[in-house]
Amino acid sequence: MTRILILSGVNLGLLGQRQPEVYGTATLDDHIDSARSSADSLGVQIEHLQSDAEADIVRAIAAARRNSDAIIINPGAFTHYSWAIHDALAAFEGPVIELHLSNPNGREAWRHTSVVTPVATAVIAGLGGDGYALAVDAAVRLLRR
Ligand code: DQA
Repeated sequence: MTRILILSGVNLGLLGQRQPEVYGTATLDDHIDSARSSADSLGVQIEHLQSDAEADIVRAIAAARRNSDAIIINPGAFTHYSWAIHDALAAFEGPVIELHLSNPNGREAWRHTSVVTPVATAVIAGLGGDGYALAVDAAVRLLRR
């Protein structure tokens, strides 16, 4: 069965409480539930990891080289400076979807740089929680191309 790994980086465990005017009131579990419903209807399997530690994300990407067909990653603030995550994703051969709830390009200047985008197959941003189901759909479409 097709396996898609969803990775959530730093501070995303606080969704629902954290700046609801920017990120909404839904929790990360709510978003993963909607990704799972999309996955169920498409007949694919989802795994999810959230971590505030860059090393955990890097290790999960390395393991995905053997265990996952595609990666959906919302790196949180790691987006803007983690060359370690960039390098780990560069070594992953399947599709990589970079996902953001907000549109970082419409916010503060420091969020306009993503070190992940150069190694992403596609980027979904600014659609709030809807982005999770859309990202699963996009990953499956890329895998079936
Ligand atoms: C975010 C955008 C990032 O700039 C920010 O640091 C986050 C969340 C988003 O989903 O909109 O933590 O990745």
